[in-house]
Amino acid sequence: MQRILVTGGAGYIGSHTVVELQSAGFEVVIVDNLSNSSVDVVDGITRITGIRPAFEKLDCLDYEGLGKLLTKYSGIAAIIHFAASKAVGESVQRPLLYYRNNLVSLINLLELMPKHGVENFVFSSSCTVYGQPDALPVTERAPRKPAESPYGNTKQICEDIVSDTVRSGAKVKSILLRYFNPIGAHPSAEIGELPLGVPQNLIPFVTQTAAGIRPKLSVFGSDYSTPDGSCIRDYINVVDLAKAHVVAAQRMLTGKSKSAVETFNLGTGRGVSVLEVVNAFEKVTGVKLNYEVVGRRAGDIEQIWADPSYANTELGWQAKENIEDTLASAWKWQQKLTKSGK
Ligand code: NAD
Ligand code: WQD
Repeated sequence: MQRILVTGGAGYIGSHTVVELQSAGFEVVIVDNLSNSSVDVVDGITRITGIRPAFEKLDCLDYEGLGKLLTKYSGIAAIIHFAASKAVGESVQRPLLYYRNNLVSLINLLELMPKHGVENFVFSSSCTVYGQPDALPVTERAPRKPAESPYGNTKQICEDIVSDTVRSGAKVKSILLRYFNPIGAHPSAEIGELPLGVPQNLIPFVTQTAAGIRPKLSVFGSDYSTPDGSCIRDYINVVDLAKAHVVAAQRMLTGKSKSAVETFNLGTGRGVSVLEVVNAFEKVTGVKLNYEVVGRRAGDIEQIWADPSYANTELGWQAKENIEDTLASAWKWQQKLTKSGK
């Protein structure tokens, strides 16, 4: 059984990926410092798959600790690196925390990999690297735009750090995955997104408003050059997204990569407006959302959606779930959180 190290594996996307890796027959070791997650997530994963992944509470900033861990779990076939700080607004307030956490964690792993014979590396990047693209849908060949936030900048710098390391001749191969907007939860509602404090992202704000935790959803902007005036995004189901990581790992492990660093867009290829999300949520859940259209949010991109055809053809991966079922899964998860008082 091949062993995969998942950093940030107790987090939102990481936990769903651990489930899919286990289901595909991989043995998983999770490393997480629990800065934005709870150890209970490991129980949720275990309830879904029937297999308890190894869990190590460790900070990826701890070079020595990571080294010991790679010695303890020898023969790691690939690392999937989710661990990072990800709140755009907070990154503007605390840039050094973001640069340190996101860059140094990555550098530590890349330095340690050759020392422990780990050759394959999957990195969590983001569509944020495209800014507002000149043409839509956006392909992987579109130029990256100057980052709008320190968080976005860390993703660009991290992509470069990975590419430069691979080009330097280090015995490392990598796949950079650019996620669009991951939403929803596992259909079992055993795992999902755990937003701390007031959610900044649309879907947790929608579900918390529907649950009565927030009085009202603000729809940011009605005067964009889009059919209904609200922003457009490519919302991708988190389980679909998780499955792409399994395929990416398998691609490297079976020697199918076409170059030592490959980049893939992970999106559905469909753009959906904020108002369409609100309407779809109301339709699928039967819950009326209290919302108000307000002014634009600073720094928002007007519209972006993926051209996922490279991932579709090369990885043989495709996003399958529709937005209605995905929103229903987010609602089921919110109801479970509300019931358990979280
Ligand atoms: P998340 O916060 O739920 O998960 C990240 C996990 O990493 C958390 O469990 C956190 O405790 C852990 N972590 C953070 N710093 C760590 C460190 N130094 N050492 C060990 N563990 C650490 O976030 P997520 O939404 O699952 O995002 C996962 C990755 O995907 C991140 O790299 C994020 O930037 C990227 N990404 C997320 C989105 C999104 O919208 N959620 C979009 C594009 C890219
Ligand atoms: C989606 C749409 C908002 C909240 C962010 C990061 C990006 C990536 C994904 C990591 C926008 C609107 C939102 C609300 C609203 N993360 N909205 N009312 O901004 O596309 O991307 O998360 O890499 O880097 O920037 O996602 O969920 O915040 O917003 O109207 O209360 O919903 O204006 O149009 P975004 P989001």
